[in-house]
Amino acid sequence: MKMEFSHELEETVRSINEIIRKELPKVEGFQSTVMESITYSLEAGGKRIRPVLILKSYELYKDRYGSEWDAFMRPVLNSFICAMEMIHTASLCHDDLPCMDGDKYRRGRESTWYKYGEAMGTLCGDALLIYPTELTTRIFREQLTKLFSAGLQASAETFNAYTLSFVKALNILSEKSGVYGMLGGQVVDVEMTGKPLSDEQLMFIYKLKTGALLQASLMIGAVLGGATDAELEKMADVGEKIGVAFQIQDDILDETSTVEVLGKPIHSDDENHKTTYVSIYGLEDAHKEVERLSENAVLELQNLTEVNDDCRRFLIELTNMLINRKK
Ligand code: IPE
Ligand code: IPE
Ligand code: MG
Ligand code: MG
Ligand code: MG
Repeated sequence: MKMEFSHELEETVRSINEIIRKELPKVEGFQSTVMESITYSLEAGGKRIRPVLILKSYELYKDRYGSEWDAFMRPVLNSFICAMEMIHTASLCHDDLPCMDGDKYRRGRESTWYKYGEAMGTLCGDALLIYPTELTTRIFREQLTKLFSAGLQASAETFNAYTLSFVKALNILSEKSGVYGMLGGQVVDVEMTGKPLSDEQLMFIYKLKTGALLQASLMIGAVLGGATDAELEKMADVGEKIGVAFQIQDDILDETSTVEVLGKPIHSDDENHKTTYVSIYGLEDAHKEVERLSENAVLELQNLTEVNDDCRRFLIELTNMLINRKK
């Protein structure tokens, strides 16, 4: 029997939280405050949308290569699930700083800088940006070591396929986090604060500051699942649409939601004099644009070939759910 979507989503988030909890650095040593702030900001929860996208896009493709591929890749996949949520959380730690949006609440509790001070809030974000490289490379190395020590003389072809997938995934993760991705978008967001934006500038900001990590999530899952380069391109398209829609909905909620539901301050954009999709086009047109982008993303998901149908259905339902998300 098929699980109902909302139940499946809940179960998926639960398993993702387990995966993340296992990989948190231990709170120890003279630098333990930074580990504590990492745990604080990550365990606050959050919707875990990016990890869900990684997991489900992996499962779209992984059946093609059988159980051996999955046995090798699963721990690597899990390391990318943690890595993505860490980088996303880093972006929130920094985004909330007084030098950026100056927000005191996040994920239903005090934001990291407000709880630990500005220096630690900055360092926590820094730590969460670099830990992913340490984590993903360590897990990949361990998997390779196991492969060889088990005497399973992997063929050169298998070894190359694993290595190429891993390198591509790490490359996507870093590119989409940095100057060509999330960080680049934040730069323009900050620089253009209080100024009018052209459509081109607005879309640049949305595609990068928010779109890039959501897009990267679908791409990383697909590449670890063994998708081809052409299939990867398609996932990038879907991810960009979902990503821009996600940011417009975030702007809508900044105007229409409550602190209790959202777990972060409302009217932050207005107070910070941000030009947003909502401030330019109004709530109604913003909602229509979220619908339009999401419908296009769904069409593209429907057109994917040779993928796992249950996962496709899940991703379509998730995209539709995000249109009317309340937080
Ligand atoms: C908030 O992201 C920041 C944006 C990029 C819009 P989320 O809405 O995914 O935040 P969490 O992870 O659920 O807290
Ligand atoms: C989010 O933009 C972009 C990030 C990279 C964090 P916002 O500034 O609108 O995000 P929230 O509303 O504070 O979560
Ligand atoms: Mg911001
Ligand atoms: Mg903000
Ligand atoms: Mg916002």
